[in-house]
Amino acid sequence: MNCFPWAKDSAKKSKNNKMKYKSLDQDQPKSLLDTQKVAPAKIDMKEDAKDAEQSAVTNDLEVVEGVGGDHKEKGKSRSFKLSELIDATDDFNMENYLGEGGFGKVFKGKLKDTGELVAIKQLDSDGTQGVREFVIEMMTLSLVDHPNLVKLVGYSVEGGQKLLVYEYMSLGSLEKYLYGHKRKTLDWNTRMKIAAGAARGLEYLHDKLNPPIIYRDLKSSNLLLGEDFHPKLSDFGLAKVGPTGTNTHVSTRVMGTEGYCAPEYAMTGQLTFKSDIYSFGVFLLEILTGRKAIDSKRPSKEQNLVDWARPLLRDRKNIYHMVDPELRGQYPPKQLYKAFATALICVQEQPSTRPRVSEVAKALDHIVSQLYTPQSPPAQTTPEIPVIS
Ligand SMILES: Nc1ncnc2c1ncn2[C@@H]1O[C@H](COP(=O)(O)OP(=O)(O)OP(=O)(O)O)[C@@H](O)[C@H]1O
Ligand SMILES: [Mg+2]
Repeated sequence: MNCFPWAKDSAKKSKNNKMKYKSLDQDQPKSLLDTQKVAPAKIDMKEDAKDAEQSAVTNDLEVVEGVGGDHKEKGKSRSFKLSELIDATDDFNMENYLGEGGFGKVFKGKLKDTGELVAIKQLDSDGTQGVREFVIEMMTLSLVDHPNLVKLVGYSVEGGQKLLVYEYMSLGSLEKYLYGHKRKTLDWNTRMKIAAGAARGLEYLHDKLNPPIIYRDLKSSNLLLGEDFHPKLSDFGLAKVGPTGTNTHVSTRVMGTEGYCAPEYAMTGQLTFKSDIYSFGVFLLEILTGRKAIDSKRPSKEQNLVDWARPLLRDRKNIYHMVDPELRGQYPPKQLYKAFATALICVQEQPSTRPRVSEVAKALDHIVSQLYTPQSPPAQTTPEIPVIS
């Protein structure tokens, strides 16, 4: 199903099922970008990126130093020369290629001066958003500081290009572990640690930031893993700075990925914090079941994860059939039930009945605190439970 069936004409489907169209969310809670809009009166956003603008941009950076409210002291973004990033990636050598998403290619790099490992995202150049607006957004986002959010190290806008420099997450995306060849290495404790960390990152964006951010694109490919499977959400705020087609005056747009969009968001474009909660529920179901949000290779009734899971979860016994078989029975049944119950309440049809992120984070933290000791040999979990048609 199309995520935004009513917006077919303006929607553009990218390689990773990401749907994009102009924003309808003017009435929604303020985001960081709104702060930026009021901050630097002297910044003229009507012009597009030009090489000659580079020095003016640099001067304007001083103006936006004050943006970000109480996060001001916490971080500093860095403006890179293009040559520094070319050096870091060995001229964007394909050996350093990490992958590509809806915004452009990503390369691994090593900064020559500090030795820091980074991931450099080249934003596709099909958009017309002004470089200055982009820089302001980046400066603000780089002030966001939480252990479960990928740090934005800096950016480069030389030559009209837009590159983002992030801290390097050595284990890559959760998606690879859930569905790729590494999936067996994700045990119960690790999965719950990842889910709880993601909830804490989202809680920071929703409840701790002022003004808050609605993430919009929570999914397993945007959850990156560092050493020891430390989880961090990536790409928050990027929805606001991506290319915006021919409309230079529209700086925000609604985005989402098929299978993760809350139904009301898909129908009306009305974005709320509860849309993020729905996506979180889908994400948690992925972690628990090892199934993709949308999987066209499965029988038709099982292709949409939520549509498959919701009716089954009416009977708690079904969780033993739904849990990822790769866990081979190595999980605590009580906590498994609690985790499924948390996912279910997040994907409620009615936004008002979905929990706040702080409640989700608390529930998951509690599950994490009940550290599970794997049994040896693995438990036999399902024989006595009836097969579900
Ligand atoms: N900071 C990072 N450290 C390590 N790998 C990264 C980093 N950022 C992105 N990657 C990797 O680069 C690849 C592309 O990431 P990207 O975010 O562009 O796409 P995506 O997450 O699949 O889709 P989306 O455009 O919706 O975010 C992914 O495999 C991701 O794991
Ligand atoms: Mg991503």
